[in-house]
Amino acid sequence: MDKIVVKGGHSLKGEVTVSGAKNAALPILASALLADGKSVYRNVPDLADVTTMLKVLGTMGCGTGRLTGERTDVCEVSVEGPIHPEAPYDLVKTMRASVLVLGPLVARFGRARVSMPGGCAIGARPIDQHLKGLKALGADIHLTEGYVEATAKRLKGGTVNFDVITVTGTENVMMAAVLAQGRSVLENCAREPEVEELARVLNKMGARIQGAGTSVITIDGVDGLNPVEHAILPDRIEAGTLMVAAAITGGDVLVRRVVPEHLEPIILKLRETGCTLTTEEGGIRVKAPSVIHSVDVKTAEHPGFPTDMQAQLMGLMTVADGTSVISERIFENRFMHVPELHRMGADITIQGHTAVVKGVRALSGAPVMATDLRASASLVLAGLRAEGKTEVQRIYHLDRGYERLERKLRDLGADISRVKA
Ligand code: EPU
Repeated sequence: MDKIVVKGGHSLKGEVTVSGAKNAALPILASALLADGKSVYRNVPDLADVTTMLKVLGTMGCGTGRLTGERTDVCEVSVEGPIHPEAPYDLVKTMRASVLVLGPLVARFGRARVSMPGGCAIGARPIDQHLKGLKALGADIHLTEGYVEATAKRLKGGTVNFDVITVTGTENVMMAAVLAQGRSVLENCAREPEVEELARVLNKMGARIQGAGTSVITIDGVDGLNPVEHAILPDRIEAGTLMVAAAITGGDVLVRRVVPEHLEPIILKLRETGCTLTTEEGGIRVKAPSVIHSVDVKTAEHPGFPTDMQAQLMGLMTVADGTSVISERIFENRFMHVPELHRMGADITIQGHTAVVKGVRALSGAPVMATDLRASASLVLAGLRAEGKTEVQRIYHLDRGYERLERKLRDLGADISRVKA
């Protein structure tokens, strides 16, 4: 298995450009199912998860492809001819976001058979809210042989009040409601920028959605949608990860192609650590202080501090001056990076959903194991700072969500390489 080898101690300097957002690309690719014809997406990151979503669509009978040469960021999905509305276990088990085809399939084809995602490394992650929403729009839902089967002649507008704020749940039900008959009102919705971006794409396709980005979304169903061309927004979590890379190495980096408003909770937190962040044309510059101050963090739904940045911020806190209290409030098991950070000399104690991080003078490089996507990123960040060599194994997790991360870091001056197995 490939691994990443980092030799720490180099300050990162220069400019880096952020790729398209994974968590926007996945629902947007699924939304292609809602219209006949060819949709074309630009700025689609080249990631394992995106490839899995293209495979899911391909097994159903969609034409899918990524351009080569200069435009590898362009993906096409065409819906022509019969669609077999099923997402099989083999694919869903490798990526739970495959469940995002459920809403579009039942709305458009009246039937969907999608494998139930199991638990995952960061928590149980049920999909009860997705199913509750689809039922409220009139879908019949049955669970058989590990699959969700949803059927409906035509969905009907309805009111859905989510009991839990869920990103993909909001997206799935929104994609179903766009073709339902009449008005749907979704309450207690996720307000993440990726939900707003999906609504933007659906509206370009002819949908009538209002309120995305707030907690109440109103959707007036239409009879049909058109294919679309769209450039996907930049990945705020990749941007945040690169910003922490600058901070943890005592660096000075301009992170290009960002939407500063989407990064606000991360920017505010990094300022509290003593970093200087300035908005420049085309990006945000992060200058590290000589000493990183400790800060407390509670993860929360957007616009709170994102759970997808918790592990990376914890990496930074391992070398801060003082003690930091980090509370994870979205997922029940998202501290898998802690035992690995211990191996590098970090001083962290877990008490339930809280980690108490006492900054240490230095980390020391060690062989460590990636356990999930963001945990992997935190280990790479710690490796950039540590004395000596860090080897991060199981980096397929990293490849699910970061496009060529080691190349981007190397271009900023890091001593990092991928060693093929
Ligand atoms: N939840 C339920 N029932 C549901 C749905 C969710 O109880 O039906 C719970 C979850 O178990 C969790 C909480 O609600 O405790 C929030 O989960 P959410 O549904 O919002 O997560 P998600 O939609 O499955 C997306 C991102 C994650 C990100 C979370 C939270 C995508 C494809 N994935 O997951 O991204 O952590 O929102 O912001 O958008 C990552 O990129 O590393 C990643 C894990």
